Amino acid sequence: MARTTGDAPAMPPGAGGPSAVDRSLLDPARLRARLAAAVPLAAADPGSVVVVRAPGRVNLIGEHTDYNDGLVLPAAIDLEIRIALVPTDDRRVEVVLDATGERAGFDLDEVVTAGTARRGGFIDYVAGTAWAMHEAGLPLRGFRGLLASTLPQGSGLSSSAALELASAWALSPASDPAIDPLTLARICQRGENAYVGVACGLMDQFASSCGRADGAVLLDCRSLDHRAVPLPLDDLAVVVCHTGSTRKLQASEYNARRAQCERAVAVLAARGLPVRALRDVTPGMLDGLRGVLDDETFRRCAHVVEEDVRVEETVAALGHGDLAAVGRLFAASHASLRDLYEVSSPELDALVDIASGVPGVVAARMTGAGFGGCTVNLVRRDAVDVLAREVLASYPARTGLVPRVLAVDPAAGAGVA
Ligand code: GLA
Repeated sequence: MARTTGDAPAMPPGAGGPSAVDRSLLDPARLRARLAAAVPLAAADPGSVVVVRAPGRVNLIGEHTDYNDGLVLPAAIDLEIRIALVPTDDRRVEVVLDATGERAGFDLDEVVTAGTARRGGFIDYVAGTAWAMHEAGLPLRGFRGLLASTLPQGSGLSSSAALELASAWALSPASDPAIDPLTLARICQRGENAYVGVACGLMDQFASSCGRADGAVLLDCRSLDHRAVPLPLDDLAVVVCHTGSTRKLQASEYNARRAQCERAVAVLAARGLPVRALRDVTPGMLDGLRGVLDDETFRRCAHVVEEDVRVEETVAALGHGDLAAVGRLFAASHASLRDLYEVSSPELDALVDIASGVPGVVAARMTGAGFGGCTVNLVRRDAVDVLAREVLASYPARTGLVPRVLAVDPAAGAGVA
């Protein structure tokens, strides 16, 4: 997916431990001062300034299952987008990027009447959210805002969804969308699908909107039932390893995978099988589908069906404190994404391989759509520095790229900072 966001990467690799993330970039007092410098309105009426926030996410397991009506287990993380803003009553939205000074804007009335005509650049995610909120019957307000981010750009950590959720809170009169977080996530997803033109599932917006500081959230993408899945955070850290590679072919390959899944469903339904989505294919049905689907489509289908089972098993294993099982399930998920769904990359494989050899790394796999981006690792707290050292020492020699190792904490969903 061609994701365009106003991110502020600025995270050089550290020498002996995880890379430093400059979280002071998001300090509300700093953002207010920066906004006042960029927007005279904010300086004139500092009392009216509001700061809203929305987190990125890692997906623990359940990859490429959301658009197949399946199960996902993401966690929102404390790398996030914040918008400091002063509301206006002129129906105009203008946003300045803290990192670059780039400015972009639009008229709310134009966006809601002109439909899905895109402008280009990060502002499309703000405008798309405004469009989708209007379509859903939600009120909108204008604002002048300053956008800052600690989410690395184009890294598979859902900076687009974070931008959409932060925008939704910024655009809402009284800074309160007055709607439940799951519905708001669906509205933001509609904006990304119909306005921005990316056919993503619901997982990223769901995680950014419904995240929890105590761990992950399990979502059934068919029923939309969801529940908290706490993580043993006293013992384990969530560590993201960034390949340092730009994501290649992501939009076309993502859409191609979706199309293959839809074709598989059409073939099975045409044969009279009760299959509305790959969610309806059970592991027991798989063997019988070998001759029905071509080999490649069969492998895509097998990944989705088995990944749903792995999500359920991971939730159960976490519940029992069976971390060895969690490690095996992450490994099986990564292998399946590499060999059956074919969305991994040599860089992601190298990161998982390196992490898997470090004592104290409980579980490692690629996270998100793939084709570059990041891995997610569950790591015993006393092994985080060892993992960082090992990745920083071995990965560049294997790939010619500079990785980043980011220790993150689960975070609450979007809201007022
Ligand atoms: C991207 C999409 C999500 C999901 C993942 C793969 O992050 O935005 O909807 O499909 O890829 O699990």
